[in-house]
Amino acid sequence: MSRYDEVKKQLIQTPKTWLVTGVAGFIGSNLLETLLLLNQKVIGLDNFATGHQHNLDEVQSEVSPKQWHNFTFIKGDIRNFDDCQKALTIDNTAVDYILHQAALGSVPRSIADPILTNSANITGFVNMLTAAKDANVATFVYAASSSTYGDHPALPKVEENIGKPLSPYAVTKYVNELYADVFNKTYGLNTTGLRYFNVFGKRQDPDGAYAAVIPKWTAAMIENQDLFINGDGETSRDFCFVENAVQANILAATADEEGKNQVFNVALGDRTTLNELFSSLVSALSINEVSYSKQAIYQDFRVGDVRHSQADISKAKNLIGYQPEFRIQQGINKAMPWYIDFIKKQKM
Ligand SMILES: NC(=O)c1ccc[n+]([C@@H]2O[C@H](COP(=O)([O-])OP(=O)(O)OC[C@H]3O[C@@H](n4cnc5c(N)ncnc54)[C@H](O)[C@@H]3O)[C@@H](O)[C@H]2O)c1
Repeated sequence: MSRYDEVKKQLIQTPKTWLVTGVAGFIGSNLLETLLLLNQKVIGLDNFATGHQHNLDEVQSEVSPKQWHNFTFIKGDIRNFDDCQKALTIDNTAVDYILHQAALGSVPRSIADPILTNSANITGFVNMLTAAKDANVATFVYAASSSTYGDHPALPKVEENIGKPLSPYAVTKYVNELYADVFNKTYGLNTTGLRYFNVFGKRQDPDGAYAAVIPKWTAAMIENQDLFINGDGETSRDFCFVENAVQANILAATADEEGKNQVFNVALGDRTTLNELFSSLVSALSINEVSYSKQAIYQDFRVGDVRHSQADISKAKNLIGYQPEFRIQQGINKAMPWYIDFIKKQKM
């Protein structure tokens, strides 16, 4: 039995209390769904900056009424320390684990407004860490980022070898790691950073100027719109299906001593070019009887983007028993019906 299966079994037997920040967002709502299906008690915090009530409504429809009853939502802002404290004291329930996802994602957004990104991603992060150590939370798992590898040329990316950040967003995510380490050394708070590499799946927002590539392209293809590739299409990424990221969070929170106070790559360990991604999406759509016949339009490279990204995931495999269950095409095939349905509903 995999460690993930064992941990899930234990959690069902002895449910825990989790705080998921950014719970109305893409990864947060997927964490919520899995935790509720495992009969966990979950407190969620979100200010709806980029998250949506419809993500929470959808999770409600995926779980039983009894499981939904285990969820308490707080509309609040991590930039406000009182909101962070409230999330850890509500109902007088001690929180066992925090899965901190709340942040403003997107490299271009951070370039357009570094002050805003800094306030959510650094001030908000320190608020949440401080509230966690005050509340004696067992483990604080947080969303770090592959952007921390910055200009380091080596491939695949190994946790210890990072370069200089290439964007304000990358700075904030690196600073998170520094703070988490200092909070561990200074206050004894267990912290674990998960450096996500291009996570994708259902409920990843296809709308807005800062949408990620998979939902943006998928939506464009479903609506038969023009689709743009930044650069020559040979830029590559290690795309990671969201259920693999959910697994990493649950394993990190429940890790034993050697798996605590670490930073882990969370990815697949594969590299897919944008040109390959384009073909994979077209093929997943055709399985669902949606055809996209246009050619991609190539445009300039985007400022702040790294050229190639691929993770070495052996550290997470060895220390927390991470075993990604979904390859990229499996994840795309799984997510596609959701996107088709989502776009259909949007049009109604
Ligand atoms: N999706 C990826 O590929 C990826 C890659 C690397 C890192 N990350 C990190 O993972 C985390 C989750 O990302 P996501 O893709 O689910 O993005 P998302 O935008 O869907 O989710 C982020 C959530 O945080 C909430 N939020 C933002 N600012 C807040 C604030 N001040 N107070 C309370 N809530 C706030 C948003 O409303 C949203 O619901 C983020 O920390 C992001 O930086 C994501």
